[in-house]
Amino acid sequence: MESIQAIKGMNDILPGQIEWWQRVEREARRILEDFGYREIRTPVVEKLELFSRGIGESTDVVEKEMYAFPDRKGEWLALRPEATASVVRAYIQHNLQADAVAQKFYAIGPMFRHERPQKGRYRQFHQIDAEVFGTDDPMLDAEIMYMLRLYLERLGLSGVVLHVNSLGCPECRKSYRAVLQEFLEQRSEGLCPDCQRRTRTNPLRTLDCKVDRCREALRDAPLLLDSICTDCADHFDRVKSYLELLRTPYEVDPRMVRGLDYYMRTTFEIITDRLGTQNAVGGGGRYNGLVRDLGGPDVPGIGFAIGMERLILLLQQEREETPRRPVAFVAALGDLARQRGFLLVQELREKGIEAEMDYEGRSLKSQMRRADRLGTRHVLILGEEELKRDEIQLRDMADKSQAVVPLDSVTDTLSKIYGR
Ligand code: HAM
Repeated sequence: MESIQAIKGMNDILPGQIEWWQRVEREARRILEDFGYREIRTPVVEKLELFSRGIGESTDVVEKEMYAFPDRKGEWLALRPEATASVVRAYIQHNLQADAVAQKFYAIGPMFRHERPQKGRYRQFHQIDAEVFGTDDPMLDAEIMYMLRLYLERLGLSGVVLHVNSLGCPECRKSYRAVLQEFLEQRSEGLCPDCQRRTRTNPLRTLDCKVDRCREALRDAPLLLDSICTDCADHFDRVKSYLELLRTPYEVDPRMVRGLDYYMRTTFEIITDRLGTQNAVGGGGRYNGLVRDLGGPDVPGIGFAIGMERLILLLQQEREETPRRPVAFVAALGDLARQRGFLLVQELREKGIEAEMDYEGRSLKSQMRRADRLGTRHVLILGEEELKRDEIQLRDMADKSQAVVPLDSVTDTLSKIYGR
């Protein structure tokens, strides 16, 4: 019978890979919680309207990539393409602006966009997302980018660049939009069909079109950053000076527009040149009007999301082996020794040490082979002779050294070595 495959662009994460995910998530939770963020989990499915209103009707994410469907009663629903709109919805719905503590949130989980799958781009992908409500202070903008830098450093990721830009406020954008539209209309024949359409619907998006001829045509396009109002320019200057204070290197990228309509003022992306065209590992920015536009109070907001697949691809390029905690393997021979070995495995686990044994009573040679395949750090060899003397052989698989250790203290010995 024909077997059933997973959906294109939606991947299983198998043991061997999952250790990367766990590590990236563990470090994320640690740093986010140190910075005062608290976890929030929202449903994967929401009303379609949340995303069309929140992200913007004329964005690619909503217009082309949404998994939208009517449910059995005909109500239009969608798989979430990102987390921000959902977190904002929950913030409004549960009246969280009244809560003194809950103003910083993080969410980790799958998102869905019907894009053409390729390396670093999937239809189900995962984000580590963070959102902060209630302050427009540029200190916070800088702190968020600083936290991102610290996080990536802790993971050992190098070679990424922080790009920042300011998209101004709706006021400065209105006048700029008209200027840009006029520029685009003059060059209309040179643009791809998408950009010809965007000229009317979403002209800013033409600025980061990847098509060569559009890039060429837009080389001397007027830049929004050159025409933002003095308040926005001042805000941006202060973001930059706080970034310098926090020793967080950045590049101003006046062409970065981001793919979602809710942004204003500060926007940023973590850029790599090692993933082909999927060059953003993460991105975010301010969205001061979004909570109000989704029916909530007029509170400012800012956040970001990291693409976990992309982050892990980059980490793996730097270090091949999967990060795994040490494993001890008990190789016992003979009935009595096997019984004592079985107990020892449980004792090790009680101490928080991952331990394995062979349940089938195979030869020492085949047990050693299995230990090797498991990537074991130590093998504890227990035969009838050792058992009689209350001893055990402790073999370090890295340097192949072997020592005889008293049986009743071997757990403590390993505990010390593994720091548990
Ligand atoms: P975004 O730039 O659309 O922003 O996505 C953030 C990150 O998710 C990207 O930089 C990328 O690493 C990853 N990503 C996006 N699409 C895919 C895909 N198809 N396959 C793999 N990875 C992908 C947002 O989603 C905003 N909600 C971020 C934010 C939070 N802004 C404010 N708060």
